[in-house]
Amino acid sequence: MTKMNEKNKTPPLSPKQEKVLSLLRNGGLKRLNIFEGSVRSGKTYVSLILWGFWVAVRGEGHYLMAGKTLCSVRRNLLEPLTEIFGEENVRYSVSGKEASLFGIKIHLEGCADSRAEGRIRGMTLDGAYCDELTLFNQDFFKMLLSRLSAKGAKLFATTNPDHPCHWLKTDFLDRKELDLLDMHFTLDDNPYLDPDYVKALRSEYKGVYYDRYILGKWVAAEGSIYTDFTDEMIMSEEETKEAEERCVFKTAGVDFGGNRSASAFVLVGFDKGYDTLYILDEFYDSEGSSAETLIEAFGIISRRWNEDKKLRAVYCDSAEQLLVKSFRQAAEIPVKNALKSSINGRIRMFCRLMAGGRFKVSCRCEKLIRAIKTAVWDSGSLCDSRLDNGTTNIDSLDAMEYAAERFERELFRF
Ligand SMILES: Nc1ncnc2c1ncn2[C@@H]1O[C@H](COP(=O)(O)OP(=O)(O)OP(=O)(O)O)[C@@H](O)[C@H]1O
Ligand SMILES: [Mg+2]
Repeated sequence: MTKMNEKNKTPPLSPKQEKVLSLLRNGGLKRLNIFEGSVRSGKTYVSLILWGFWVAVRGEGHYLMAGKTLCSVRRNLLEPLTEIFGEENVRYSVSGKEASLFGIKIHLEGCADSRAEGRIRGMTLDGAYCDELTLFNQDFFKMLLSRLSAKGAKLFATTNPDHPCHWLKTDFLDRKELDLLDMHFTLDDNPYLDPDYVKALRSEYKGVYYDRYILGKWVAAEGSIYTDFTDEMIMSEEETKEAEERCVFKTAGVDFGGNRSASAFVLVGFDKGYDTLYILDEFYDSEGSSAETLIEAFGIISRRWNEDKKLRAVYCDSAEQLLVKSFRQAAEIPVKNALKSSINGRIRMFCRLMAGGRFKVSCRCEKLIRAIKTAVWDSGSLCDSRLDNGTTNIDSLDAMEYAAERFERELFRF
Protein backbone atom coordinates (compact mmCIF):
# COMPACT_ATOMS: atom_id res chain seq x y z
CA MET A 1 0.00 0.00 0.00
CA THR A 2 2.67 2.51 0.91
CA LYS A 3 5.99 3.27 -0.62
CA MET A 4 7.60 2.11 2.60
CA ASN A 5 5.93 -1.29 2.53
CA GLU A 6 6.38 -1.84 -1.18
CA LYS A 7 10.08 -1.34 -0.96
CA ASN A 8 10.22 -2.83 2.50
CA LYS A 9 11.89 0.31 3.76
CA THR A 10 10.12 0.96 7.04
CA PRO A 11 12.21 3.71 8.61
CA PRO A 12 13.85 2.93 11.92
CA LEU A 13 11.94 4.38 14.83
CA SER A 14 13.04 5.34 18.32
CA PRO A 15 11.64 3.24 21.20
CA LYS A 16 9.23 6.07 22.04
CA GLN A 17 8.08 6.24 18.42
CA GLU A 18 7.62 2.46 18.34
CA LYS A 19 5.40 2.83 21.38
CA VAL A 20 3.31 5.44 19.56
CA LEU A 21 2.82 3.20 16.52
CA SER A 22 1.94 0.22 18.68
CA LEU A 23 -1.16 2.18 19.78
CA LEU A 24 -2.64 1.33 16.39
CA ARG A 25 -2.24 -2.39 16.98
CA ASN A 26 -3.17 -2.56 20.64
CA GLY A 27 -6.20 -0.28 20.47
CA GLY A 28 -4.50 2.29 22.70
CA LEU A 29 -5.70 5.31 20.74
CA LYS A 30 -8.15 7.64 22.45
CA ARG A 31 -10.58 10.20 21.06
CA LEU A 32 -7.96 12.91 21.65
CA ASN A 33 -4.32 11.95 21.10
CA ILE A 34 -1.82 14.64 22.04
CA PHE A 35 1.93 14.34 21.56
CA GLU A 36 3.67 17.05 23.54
CA GLY A 37 7.15 17.93 24.77
CA SER A 38 10.61 19.11 23.72
CA VAL A 39 11.49 20.57 20.34
CA ARG A 40 12.88 18.16 17.72
CA SER A 41 11.92 15.17 19.83
CA GLY A 42 10.28 13.27 16.97
CA LYS A 43 6.63 14.03 17.76
CA THR A 44 5.65 15.28 14.33
CA TYR A 45 7.50 12.54 12.48
CA VAL A 46 5.87 9.64 14.29
CA SER A 47 2.45 11.23 14.64
CA LEU A 48 2.36 11.74 10.86
CA ILE A 49 3.12 8.05 10.32
CA LEU A 50 0.39 7.20 12.82
CA TRP A 51 -2.04 9.60 11.14
CA GLY A 52 -1.26 8.19 7.68
CA PHE A 53 -1.85 4.60 8.74
CA TRP A 54 -4.94 5.51 10.73
CA VAL A 55 -6.52 7.37 7.80
CA ALA A 56 -5.62 4.55 5.41
CA VAL A 57 -7.23 1.94 7.66
CA ARG A 58 -10.36 4.00 8.34
CA GLY A 59 -10.78 4.75 4.63
CA GLU A 60 -13.12 7.22 2.96
CA GLY A 61 -14.41 9.93 5.27
CA HIS A 62 -13.95 13.55 6.17
CA TYR A 63 -10.53 14.59 7.37
CA LEU A 64 -8.83 17.82 8.28
CA MET A 65 -5.22 18.83 8.76
CA ALA A 66 -4.72 22.19 10.42
CA GLY A 67 -1.85 24.38 11.53
CA LYS A 68 -1.33 27.98 12.37
CA THR A 69 -1.13 28.97 8.72
CA LEU A 70 -1.44 27.06 5.44
CA CYS A 71 2.23 27.77 4.92
CA SER A 72 3.14 26.00 8.17
CA VAL A 73 0.81 23.13 7.23
CA ARG A 74 2.81 22.64 4.05
CA ARG A 75 6.22 23.01 5.70
CA ASN A 76 5.58 21.08 8.93
CA LEU A 77 3.10 18.45 7.74
CA LEU A 78 2.70 17.95 3.99
CA GLU A 79 6.38 18.01 3.07
CA PRO A 80 7.40 15.49 5.78
CA LEU A 81 4.30 13.40 4.99
CA THR A 82 5.46 13.20 1.36
CA GLU A 83 8.98 12.23 2.48
CA ILE A 84 7.55 9.46 4.62
CA PHE A 85 4.87 8.00 2.32
CA GLY A 86 6.13 9.06 -1.10
CA GLU A 87 4.79 11.35 -3.79
CA GLU A 88 2.56 8.62 -5.18
CA ASN A 89 0.63 8.49 -1.91
CA VAL A 90 0.57 12.15 -0.90
CA ARG A 91 -0.68 14.93 -3.16
CA TYR A 92 -1.69 18.43 -2.24
CA SER A 93 -2.65 21.87 -3.41
CA VAL A 94 -2.12 24.37 -0.62
CA SER A 95 -3.91 27.14 -2.51
CA GLY A 96 -6.81 24.73 -3.15
CA LYS A 97 -6.67 23.81 0.57
CA GLU A 98 -6.86 20.15 -0.26
CA ALA A 99 -4.61 17.14 0.02
CA SER A 100 -5.02 13.48 -0.67
CA LEU A 101 -3.44 10.74 1.38
CA PHE A 102 -3.60 7.26 -0.23
CA GLY A 103 -6.32 8.72 -2.45
CA ILE A 104 -8.40 9.91 0.53
CA LYS A 105 -9.34 13.57 0.50
CA ILE A 106 -8.09 15.79 3.33
CA HIS A 107 -9.19 19.37 3.91
CA LEU A 108 -6.44 21.83 4.90
CA GLU A 109 -6.91 24.81 7.18
CA GLY A 110 -4.78 27.59 8.65
CA CYS A 111 -6.36 28.54 11.95
CA ALA A 112 -4.68 31.96 12.28
CA ASP A 113 -7.19 33.06 9.66
CA SER A 114 -10.16 34.51 11.57
CA ARG A 115 -12.60 32.92 9.09
CA ALA A 116 -11.28 29.41 9.74
CA GLU A 117 -13.74 28.72 12.55
CA GLY A 118 -16.69 29.59 10.31
CA ARG A 119 -15.37 27.33 7.55
CA ILE A 120 -15.28 24.20 9.69
CA ARG A 121 -18.62 24.97 11.37
CA GLY A 122 -20.73 22.78 9.10
CA MET A 123 -18.36 19.82 8.87
CA THR A 124 -18.75 16.32 10.25
CA LEU A 125 -15.26 14.99 10.70
CA ASP A 126 -13.82 11.50 11.06
CA GLY A 127 -10.37 12.73 11.96
CA ALA A 128 -8.25 15.82 12.44
CA TYR A 129 -4.54 16.43 12.75
CA CYS A 130 -3.36 19.66 14.43
CA ASP A 131 0.18 20.99 14.30
CA GLU A 132 1.45 23.15 17.22
CA LEU A 133 -1.80 23.02 19.14
CA THR A 134 -0.95 25.63 21.80
CA LEU A 135 -0.88 28.22 19.03
CA PHE A 136 -4.50 27.51 18.11
CA ASN A 137 -7.30 29.80 19.10
CA GLN A 138 -9.31 28.07 21.80
CA ASP A 139 -12.64 28.80 20.09
CA PHE A 140 -11.39 27.24 16.86
CA PHE A 141 -10.27 24.15 18.78
CA LYS A 142 -13.59 23.83 20.61
CA MET A 143 -15.43 24.12 17.30
CA LEU A 144 -13.12 21.48 15.83
CA LEU A 145 -13.87 19.07 18.67
CA SER A 146 -17.60 19.54 18.18
CA ARG A 147 -17.12 18.66 14.48
CA LEU A 148 -15.40 15.36 15.30
CA SER A 149 -18.79 13.73 15.52
CA ALA A 150 -18.48 10.66 13.30
CA LYS A 151 -18.39 7.39 15.25
CA GLY A 152 -14.84 6.66 16.41
CA ALA A 153 -13.62 10.06 15.24
CA LYS A 154 -10.19 11.02 16.52
CA LEU A 155 -7.93 13.99 16.97
CA PHE A 156 -4.15 13.82 16.64
CA ALA A 157 -2.09 16.81 17.69
CA THR A 158 1.45 17.83 18.54
CA THR A 159 2.68 20.74 20.59
CA ASN A 160 5.52 22.15 22.65
CA PRO A 161 4.71 23.02 26.26
CA ASP A 162 3.59 26.51 27.22
CA HIS A 163 2.44 28.29 30.38
CA PRO A 164 0.90 25.87 32.95
CA CYS A 165 -2.30 27.94 32.80
CA HIS A 166 -2.60 27.56 29.02
CA TRP A 167 -6.11 26.35 28.07
CA LEU A 168 -4.72 23.17 26.52
CA LYS A 169 -3.15 22.20 29.84
CA THR A 170 -5.94 23.22 32.20
CA ASP A 171 -8.98 22.32 30.08
CA PHE A 172 -7.64 19.17 28.43
CA LEU A 173 -4.31 17.62 29.49
CA ASP A 174 -5.00 18.00 33.21
CA ARG A 175 -8.53 16.61 33.05
CA LYS A 176 -8.22 12.94 33.83
CA GLU A 177 -11.90 12.25 33.06
CA LEU A 178 -11.43 12.98 29.33
CA ASP A 179 -10.91 10.29 26.70
CA LEU A 180 -7.44 11.67 26.08
CA LEU A 181 -3.99 10.23 25.52
CA ASP A 182 -1.12 12.49 26.57
CA MET A 183 2.22 11.27 25.23
CA HIS A 184 5.14 13.23 26.57
CA PHE A 185 8.40 13.50 24.56
CA THR A 186 11.85 14.75 25.56
CA LEU A 187 14.89 15.49 23.42
CA ASP A 188 16.35 12.10 24.35
CA ASP A 189 13.41 10.42 22.59
CA ASN A 190 14.97 11.36 19.23
CA PRO A 191 18.25 9.51 18.66
CA TYR A 192 18.32 10.62 15.01
CA LEU A 193 19.60 14.12 15.70
CA ASP A 194 23.25 14.99 15.17
CA PRO A 195 24.85 15.20 18.67
CA ASP A 196 26.51 18.53 17.75
CA TYR A 197 23.13 19.93 16.79
CA VAL A 198 21.63 18.75 20.09
CA LYS A 199 24.53 20.38 21.96
CA ALA A 200 23.96 23.66 20.11
CA LEU A 201 20.21 23.45 20.74
CA ARG A 202 20.75 22.90 24.47
CA SER A 203 22.97 25.98 24.71
CA GLU A 204 20.61 28.22 22.75
CA TYR A 205 17.69 27.92 25.14
CA LYS A 206 17.95 29.26 28.68
CA GLY A 207 15.62 29.77 31.63
CA VAL A 208 11.97 29.20 30.95
CA TYR A 209 12.69 28.30 27.31
CA TYR A 210 15.17 25.63 28.37
CA ASP A 211 12.59 24.16 30.72
CA ARG A 212 9.92 24.15 28.03
CA TYR A 213 11.71 23.40 24.78
CA ILE A 214 14.56 21.23 25.98
CA LEU A 215 13.12 19.59 29.10
CA GLY A 216 9.54 19.68 27.78
CA LYS A 217 8.03 21.11 30.98
CA TRP A 218 4.91 23.26 31.32
CA VAL A 219 6.37 26.13 33.36
CA ALA A 220 5.49 29.79 33.82
CA ALA A 221 7.73 32.62 32.69
CA GLU A 222 8.64 34.84 35.66
CA GLY A 223 10.89 37.79 36.45
CA SER A 224 13.28 39.35 33.94
CA ILE A 225 12.76 38.43 30.30
CA TYR A 226 16.23 38.81 28.82
CA THR A 227 18.15 36.97 31.54
CA ASP A 228 21.07 36.26 29.21
CA PHE A 229 21.73 39.84 28.25
CA THR A 230 25.10 41.07 29.57
CA ASP A 231 27.09 44.31 29.20
CA GLU A 232 29.57 42.37 27.09
CA MET A 233 27.00 42.44 24.30
CA ILE A 234 27.23 46.24 24.15
CA MET A 235 29.45 47.53 21.34
CA SER A 236 31.63 50.64 21.67
CA GLU A 237 31.42 53.31 18.98
CA GLU A 238 34.41 51.79 17.23
CA GLU A 239 32.97 48.28 17.37
CA THR A 240 29.68 49.62 16.03
CA LYS A 241 31.45 51.07 12.99
CA GLU A 242 33.23 47.76 12.38
CA ALA A 243 29.93 45.91 12.70
CA GLU A 244 28.26 48.27 10.22
CA GLU A 245 30.96 47.46 7.69
CA ARG A 246 30.55 43.76 8.31
CA CYS A 247 26.81 43.92 7.71
CA VAL A 248 25.56 42.82 4.32
CA PHE A 249 22.25 44.63 4.71
CA LYS A 250 20.29 46.53 7.30
CA THR A 251 16.62 47.01 8.18
CA ALA A 252 14.85 49.38 10.53
CA GLY A 253 11.77 48.96 12.71
CA VAL A 254 9.38 51.73 13.69
CA ASP A 255 6.94 51.78 16.59
CA PHE A 256 4.61 54.77 16.74
CA GLY A 257 3.81 56.36 20.07
CA GLY A 258 0.29 56.24 21.45
CA ASN A 259 -1.11 58.12 24.43
CA ARG A 260 1.31 56.83 27.02
CA SER A 261 4.13 55.63 24.82
CA ALA A 262 6.99 57.02 22.79
CA SER A 263 7.92 56.62 19.13
CA ALA A 264 11.00 54.52 18.50
CA PHE A 265 13.06 53.67 15.41
CA VAL A 266 15.70 50.93 15.65
CA LEU A 267 18.33 50.05 13.04
CA VAL A 268 19.54 46.44 12.82
CA GLY A 269 22.23 44.84 10.68
CA PHE A 270 22.70 41.33 9.33
CA ASP A 271 26.11 39.87 8.56
CA LYS A 272 26.94 37.25 5.93
CA GLY A 273 25.44 33.89 6.94
CA TYR A 274 23.20 35.55 9.53
CA ASP A 275 25.68 34.68 12.29
CA THR A 276 25.17 37.70 14.55
CA LEU A 277 22.39 40.24 14.75
CA TYR A 278 23.71 43.77 15.26
CA ILE A 279 21.56 46.52 16.73
CA LEU A 280 23.26 49.58 15.31
CA ASP A 281 21.34 52.72 16.19
CA GLU A 282 18.12 54.11 17.58
CA PHE A 283 15.89 57.14 17.55
CA TYR A 284 13.58 57.69 20.49
CA ASP A 285 10.98 60.41 20.88
CA SER A 286 9.14 60.52 24.17
CA GLU A 287 7.98 64.11 23.71
CA GLY A 288 4.95 63.08 21.70
CA SER A 289 6.07 65.36 18.85
CA SER A 290 3.60 66.27 16.13
CA ALA A 291 3.18 63.93 13.16
CA GLU A 292 4.98 66.49 10.94
CA THR A 293 8.03 66.60 13.22
CA LEU A 294 8.17 62.80 13.39
CA ILE A 295 7.91 62.46 9.59
CA GLU A 296 10.67 65.04 9.12
CA ALA A 297 12.89 63.26 11.67
CA PHE A 298 12.27 59.96 9.91
CA GLY A 299 13.26 61.45 6.53
CA ILE A 300 16.57 62.69 7.93
CA ILE A 301 17.37 59.57 9.93
CA SER A 302 16.49 57.08 7.22
CA ARG A 303 18.73 58.95 4.77
CA ARG A 304 21.57 58.92 7.30
CA TRP A 305 21.07 55.22 8.00
CA ASN A 306 21.13 54.54 4.26
CA GLU A 307 24.31 56.46 3.46
CA ASP A 308 26.06 53.13 2.84
CA LYS A 309 23.10 52.00 0.65
CA LYS A 310 22.62 48.94 2.83
CA LEU A 311 19.25 49.86 4.34
CA ARG A 312 16.95 47.40 2.58
CA ALA A 313 13.57 48.21 4.17
CA VAL A 314 11.79 49.83 7.07
CA TYR A 315 9.04 47.91 8.88
CA CYS A 316 6.45 50.08 10.63
CA ASP A 317 3.73 49.41 13.16
CA SER A 318 0.78 48.81 10.85
CA ALA A 319 -1.72 50.33 13.31
CA GLU A 320 -0.93 53.85 12.04
CA GLN A 321 -1.54 53.68 8.30
CA LEU A 322 -1.59 57.45 7.77
CA LEU A 323 1.85 57.80 9.30
CA VAL A 324 3.13 54.80 7.39
CA LYS A 325 1.97 56.49 4.18
CA SER A 326 3.76 59.72 5.07
CA PHE A 327 6.92 57.81 6.03
CA ARG A 328 6.77 56.12 2.63
CA GLN A 329 6.80 59.52 0.94
CA ALA A 330 9.59 60.82 3.19
CA ALA A 331 12.01 57.95 2.61
CA GLU A 332 14.03 56.71 -0.35
CA ILE A 333 13.81 53.09 0.70
CA PRO A 334 10.82 50.72 0.85
CA VAL A 335 8.61 51.37 3.90
CA LYS A 336 6.47 48.32 4.70
CA ASN A 337 4.04 47.18 7.35
CA ALA A 338 5.63 45.19 10.13
CA LEU A 339 4.70 41.53 10.26
CA LYS A 340 3.74 41.87 13.93
CA SER A 341 4.17 38.18 14.62
CA SER A 342 3.30 36.95 18.13
CA ILE A 343 5.11 38.89 20.86
CA ASN A 344 6.15 35.72 22.61
CA GLY A 345 7.60 34.33 19.40
CA ARG A 346 9.62 37.51 18.96
CA ILE A 347 10.84 37.40 22.57
CA ARG A 348 11.87 33.77 22.16
CA MET A 349 13.83 34.65 19.04
CA PHE A 350 15.84 37.36 20.81
CA CYS A 351 16.39 35.21 23.91
CA ARG A 352 17.79 32.51 21.65
CA LEU A 353 20.13 34.94 19.91
CA MET A 354 21.36 36.27 23.25
CA ALA A 355 21.82 32.81 24.76
CA GLY A 356 23.76 31.77 21.67
CA GLY A 357 26.06 34.83 21.90
CA ARG A 358 24.69 36.09 18.58
CA PHE A 359 23.32 39.44 19.70
CA LYS A 360 25.24 42.75 19.83
CA VAL A 361 23.89 46.19 20.53
CA SER A 362 25.58 49.53 20.02
CA CYS A 363 26.25 51.91 22.92
CA ARG A 364 24.31 54.41 20.78
CA CYS A 365 21.10 52.58 21.77
CA GLU A 366 20.78 53.76 25.37
CA LYS A 367 17.01 53.55 25.51
CA LEU A 368 16.90 50.12 23.97
CA ILE A 369 19.59 48.75 26.29
CA ARG A 370 17.66 50.00 29.29
CA ALA A 371 14.47 48.51 27.85
CA ILE A 372 16.17 45.11 27.50
CA LYS A 373 17.51 45.28 31.05
CA THR A 374 14.19 46.22 32.63
CA ALA A 375 11.74 44.09 30.62
CA VAL A 376 9.83 41.69 32.87
CA TRP A 377 7.09 39.11 32.54
CA ASP A 378 3.72 40.22 33.85
CA SER A 379 3.31 38.34 37.13
CA GLY A 380 -0.44 39.02 37.17
CA SER A 381 -1.06 37.27 33.86
CA LEU A 382 -2.17 33.68 33.41
CA CYS A 383 -0.28 33.38 30.15
CA ASP A 384 3.15 34.56 28.98
CA SER A 385 2.84 38.27 28.76
CA ARG A 386 5.44 41.04 28.70
CA LEU A 387 4.58 43.69 31.28
CA ASP A 388 3.17 46.64 29.36
CA ASN A 389 1.75 49.07 31.92
CA GLY A 390 3.79 52.14 31.02
CA THR A 391 6.52 51.49 33.63
CA THR A 392 8.90 49.91 31.12
CA ASN A 393 9.88 50.89 27.58
CA ILE A 394 8.12 48.45 25.25
CA ASP A 395 8.35 50.78 22.25
CA SER A 396 12.08 50.31 21.63
CA LEU A 397 11.68 46.53 21.97
CA ASP A 398 8.79 46.49 19.49
CA ALA A 399 10.79 48.54 16.98
CA MET A 400 13.79 46.21 17.29
CA GLU A 401 11.56 43.18 16.83
CA TYR A 402 9.75 44.64 13.80
CA ALA A 403 13.12 45.15 12.12
CA ALA A 404 14.29 41.55 12.63
CA GLU A 405 11.22 39.29 12.93
CA ARG A 406 10.97 38.64 9.17
CA PHE A 407 14.40 37.06 9.20
CA GLU A 408 13.83 34.46 11.91
CA ARG A 409 14.05 31.57 9.47
CA GLU A 410 17.34 32.80 8.05
CA LEU A 411 18.75 33.36 11.55
CA PHE A 412 17.75 29.87 12.67
CA ARG A 413 18.29 27.63 9.69
CA PHE A 414 18.44 24.06 10.93
N1 LIG B 1 12.53 7.86 13.17
C1 LIG B 1 13.14 8.86 12.55
N2 LIG B 1 13.97 8.61 11.51
C2 LIG B 1 14.60 9.62 10.89
N3 LIG B 1 14.48 10.93 11.23
C3 LIG B 1 13.67 11.24 12.24
C4 LIG B 1 12.95 10.22 12.95
N4 LIG B 1 12.22 10.83 13.91
C5 LIG B 1 12.45 12.15 13.80
N5 LIG B 1 13.32 12.39 12.80
C6 LIG B 1 13.82 13.71 12.37
O1 LIG B 1 14.14 14.49 13.53
C7 LIG B 1 13.76 15.84 13.34
C8 LIG B 1 12.81 16.28 14.45
O2 LIG B 1 11.65 15.47 14.42
P1 LIG B 1 10.19 16.10 14.48
O3 LIG B 1 10.03 17.19 13.49
O4 LIG B 1 9.22 15.00 14.46
O5 LIG B 1 10.26 16.75 15.95
P2 LIG B 1 9.13 17.52 16.77
O6 LIG B 1 9.09 16.87 18.11
O7 LIG B 1 7.88 17.60 16.01
O8 LIG B 1 9.83 18.94 16.92
P3 LIG B 1 9.18 20.41 17.09
O9 LIG B 1 8.63 20.45 18.48
O10 LIG B 1 10.38 21.26 16.94
O11 LIG B 1 8.14 20.55 16.02
C9 LIG B 1 13.11 15.94 11.97
O12 LIG B 1 14.07 16.39 11.04
C10 LIG B 1 12.71 14.51 11.67
O13 LIG B 1 12.69 14.24 10.29
MG1 LIG C 1 6.82 19.30 15.24
